[in-house]
Amino acid sequence: MKSIVFATNNAHKLAEARAILEGKVEVRSLNDIDCHDDIPETAPTLEGNALMKARWVSERYGVDCFADDTGLEVDALGGEPGVRSARYAPGAGHDSAANMKLLLENLAGKDDRTARFRTVVALITDGKELTVDGKCEGRITESPSGASGFGYDPIFQPAGENRTFAEMSDAEKNAISHRGEAMRRLAELL
Ligand code: IMP
Repeated sequence: MKSIVFATNNAHKLAEARAILEGKVEVRSLNDIDCHDDIPETAPTLEGNALMKARWVSERYGVDCFADDTGLEVDALGGEPGVRSARYAPGAGHDSAANMKLLLENLAGKDDRTARFRTVVALITDGKELTVDGKCEGRITESPSGASGFGYDPIFQPAGENRTFAEMSDAEKNAISHRGEAMRRLAELL
């Protein structure tokens, strides 16, 4: 079977991708190719960051690969944290608890809690670049709930659901999530 590198070491993202791409391609992680680089994500857009990560890996390691970048857009905050979702809380790089706490503080007292996750996946195979995307509409809950998933999952309730992503199984989340949609589009390209 053909193999492709997913430019991440996030175990949740790898499991989500493997569940959808199973039987089509073997998905390898950055650890699997001995890549321990701190890959820059400094573009002003999700698409720019996904391409930046995919190019870094394909150029330096000579492999076919894909990379994703995800943002949580909260309407009452003008689309924030968006592309800055991983580093929303100052000084707290990739600290999900601090990011969620700040988001709940900034939304305190606001009636409009609508939000969406948006994911862009950039694919580089045989030197050609393609991007696909996916999104999931929902709302930010008043407090965290659930222990599955990662990131902002405990405070994101998808539209039409009364549970947060963190209260769902991996399969339930994958069926309706932003990344699930982007990965299914990616599967069509592979
Ligand atoms: P990145 O795409 O890994 O850079 O993610 C940006 C930010 O969004 C990080 O804080 C992640 O924890 C968060 N994030 C990405 N995907 C998800 C998801 O599926 N659920 C909840 N949070 C996510």
